[in-house]
Amino acid sequence: MKSKVISFLAAFSVMIAVSGCSSQPQSASTQSTASSEQKTEASSDIKESVTTVGAPEATEADTEAQDTASGGGTLVVYFSATGTTKAAAETVARVTNADLYEIVPSQIYTADDLNYNDNNSRTTIEQNDGSSRPGISGEISGWSDYSVVYVGYPIWWGDAPHIMFTFAESYDFSGKTCIPFCTSGGSGIGSSGRNIASNAGSGNWLDGTRLRSSGEEEIREWIAGLGL
Ligand SMILES: Cc1cc2nc3c(=O)[nH]c(=O)nc-3n(C[C@H](O)[C@H](O)[C@H](O)COP(=O)(O)O)c2cc1C
Repeated sequence: MKSKVISFLAAFSVMIAVSGCSSQPQSASTQSTASSEQKTEASSDIKESVTTVGAPEATEADTEAQDTASGGGTLVVYFSATGTTKAAAETVARVTNADLYEIVPSQIYTADDLNYNDNNSRTTIEQNDGSSRPGISGEISGWSDYSVVYVGYPIWWGDAPHIMFTFAESYDFSGKTCIPFCTSGGSGIGSSGRNIASNAGSGNWLDGTRLRSSGEEEIREWIAGLGL
């Protein structure tokens, strides 16, 4: 954890020097709700759909489960606490003609929860606890329709937010090709994609990437390089 903190702080210093941005997390004002100890049901399951067209067939890696992923559709699933990953996910969905699904926490992360300068903030506590599995509100309908799943999230303390592990453990990825992507203040994707994959326990998980922006050009180039 200490080395992650040091590399996070170093990465943020570089980011600040380059961009001139504040080191504080962006406000989660539109999502602010309960105190960190209260579990509340999120008000709605935010699912946006666009027309799904011609995604690649599932790989041969999970042939026995092809029937559960035979739809041939593409889905972009993402979690975003402050909007950066959301913007990237929307571009990925547009470029791939995919459906889009937001992972909404049962208990929305407030600005205080996201305070990485506070050793006792919700996110610090969760990320330090390997067994923490924050709840998710709602579920993905038509999961079997998808054979390609992009999985987006912010980097928290050098890893995926543990809510991504909740997601990974909640679905059967057999027969699906899964592609992680993240946004961050400077850190690379590291082992975060592999950690989600290992919690999923099934599926053909490709190496992911850190997206520097939500720009279409960068995202088109990345997707073209995947060879799907
Ligand atoms: C609790 C917390 C921990 C973070 N840890 C890191 C980190 O280790 N490395 C990094 O580069 N950025 C880190 N960040 C910055 C986020 O990864 C970055 O702002 C991300 O783009 C936010 O995505 P979102 O707006 O979709 O939530 C952290 C942010 C928070 C709130």
